[in-house]
Amino acid sequence: MSGEPLIKVENVHFLYNAESSNPIPALKGINLEIQKGEYLVIIGHNGSGKTTLAKHFNALLLPTKGDVWVKGMNTKDRSLVRDIRQTVGMVFQIPDNQIVATIVEEDVAFGPENLGVPPDEIRRRVDWALEVVGMLSYRNRAPHLLSAGQKQRVAIAGVMAMKPECIVLDESTAYLDPVGRKEVLDVVKKLNKEEGITVIAITHFMNEAVDADRVVVMEQGHIVLEGPPREVFSQVETLRALQLDIPQVTQLAYNLHKRLNDFPKDILTVEEMVEQICNATAG
Ligand SMILES: Nc1ncnc2c1ncn2[C@@H]1O[C@H](COP(=O)(O)OP(=O)(O)O)[C@@H](O)[C@H]1O
Ligand SMILES: [Mg+2]
Repeated sequence: MSGEPLIKVENVHFLYNAESSNPIPALKGINLEIQKGEYLVIIGHNGSGKTTLAKHFNALLLPTKGDVWVKGMNTKDRSLVRDIRQTVGMVFQIPDNQIVATIVEEDVAFGPENLGVPPDEIRRRVDWALEVVGMLSYRNRAPHLLSAGQKQRVAIAGVMAMKPECIVLDESTAYLDPVGRKEVLDVVKKLNKEEGITVIAITHFMNEAVDADRVVVMEQGHIVLEGPPREVFSQVETLRALQLDIPQVTQLAYNLHKRLNDFPKDILTVEEMVEQICNATAG
């Protein structure tokens, strides 16, 4: 039995400026279930509704129509907002906006302090969270002297210190260089695989989607495609029609497939590509 989903989104519609004369429909009937321990990636171009949907996962926004449940808690129930936000933590795009203290470990302690966690437990959580993101040796540094990737890892530690079951990352690698992006991606994978944290990651970088359990593609407030990455990225024409990228190796495999019919087109990683090319040249 798979049990109750961690997050259940049922027929959710959302209008910005709902009371005004020209409301903006941002979500148009979203249905989505996220299982505990899942690694879900959401893609879709600007304005497709990704951030709006993400803000529904921890009651930052409430549906205009439909319902969102977090572990069976309806996000519209105001008395549950605290529990919901403790279950689902959010990391945003720009790490600077999330850093509040002048020393790394104080910054990470900020969240649990606000939750009223006892000092001993805060100490343990801060050490654990900094260790998980690989920043323990920077605990006494000033956050503003860190690289963007390190700042984002500190921001992730700050969310982890509140011990959420699920972490939502809204384009948290957007402003990082390739090194910083890899650092953050590695941390996120580790949280999922080793700490059992449910991950929902919104990204523009398709190579960040290949390791997900499931990819959801949004377009104009709808979910238009959904499935394991191999399945989603093999739909090259559909993704192109949506003006979305596909991972570079998948693009290469697709082009090879068009020329050499028996070359597989559902390749996601460089390693798989190397294997296929070796097979092809050996055979
Ligand atoms: N605060 C807001 N007020 C009014 N409209 C908004 C606001 N935030 C987003 N929108 C609109 O809602 C739609 C979805 O936006 P958003 O969820 O930010 O998309 P994405 O994160 O995929 O870029 C867009 O049309 C956007 O212009
Ligand atoms: Mg967004």
